[in-house]
Amino acid sequence: MKAFESKARVRPVFGVGLCVVDELLRVEDAGVRAERTRYLERAVCAGGMVATALVQAARLGCRAQVLSVVGDDEEGRLVARALRDAGVGTRRLLRSRRCPTSVAVVLVDARTGARRFLVPDRRDVERRAPRFDLTPIRKGSLLLVDGHYPVQALRAVRHARRVGAVVIGDFSDSRPAYHELLPYVDHAIVPAAFGETWRGLSPRDTLFALRDEYGGDPVVTDGRRGALALVGERPRRVPAHRVSVVDTTGAGDVFHGAFAAGLAHGKAPFEALQWGARAAAACCTALGGQTRLMNLQEMRRAA
Ligand SMILES: Nc1ncnc2c1ncn2[C@@H]1O[C@H](COP(=O)(O)OP(=O)(O)OP(=O)(O)O)[C@@H](O)[C@H]1O
Ligand SMILES: [Mg+2]
Repeated sequence: MKAFESKARVRPVFGVGLCVVDELLRVEDAGVRAERTRYLERAVCAGGMVATALVQAARLGCRAQVLSVVGDDEEGRLVARALRDAGVGTRRLLRSRRCPTSVAVVLVDARTGARRFLVPDRRDVERRAPRFDLTPIRKGSLLLVDGHYPVQALRAVRHARRVGAVVIGDFSDSRPAYHELLPYVDHAIVPAAFGETWRGLSPRDTLFALRDEYGGDPVVTDGRRGALALVGERPRRVPAHRVSVVDTTGAGDVFHGAFAAGLAHGKAPFEALQWGARAAAACCTALGGQTRLMNLQEMRRAA
């Protein structure tokens, strides 16, 4: 394999979904019951499922572009700048006063790396979103959706199906809007919470239920227990890599971004999932979902 290959031969990756600011605080007790709790470290960075996935795909040598909206505010400018600096195309990242940028406060437990989120209710904001421009999604493109902006996401997955683009879905749990998208999703990569909230299912049963209802090649991720994939007819395990964990925020998002990048580089789905697991483990070794991302050389060296 050549050390440098032209980006033109790599399939483009688009993302429709959440772009926010993450304010991360590493604390000794993420339960925070005491009147005063000190934090050990703070980081402010761009976050959101699709935003983080796109940054990882760009780091792995893909042409990545965001199709979404942020507020016409200071936080929106921070997000746009961070995405641009990471090499993600922001020409179609809309600015709207009607859609103020959310800030997610993330409390990261210093002992375990587990995180808790403090987030606003975004339902009204997402309903007010302007129409996203989907024209750059063409045959052979890869499209990431995370279920945010459900009306726009449904337009996007239907458009993708029409033109012959491949859709990768990330749905944090089971909601009616996500089930409307699923028939158009080729690779649903969902956390274990999805099956639990859907029908109280184990990861293995979630795979078969997703396949029966919606087809495609589903995957269930389960933190440091790794992921289970239904590629073909048999569930296959994608082990998580052992790392010294600082913060697991964004591990799932990075998994999706690296999986998309693997497909974009022409890898088979199972190998692309291994890209996902490697990149997600690396992401867990620093505070913030976009702080420690693997590049193409590191990925190839690790293979
Ligand atoms: N502690 C960990 N050590 C190594 N790898 C991890 C760890 N946590 C997660 N991963 C990797 O990341 C993948 C996705 O993790 P997880 O199932 O926690 O996603 P998630 O709940 O969607 O996370 P998030 O929404 O915060 O991005 C796992 O399948 C695994 O490969
Ligand atoms: Mg997730």
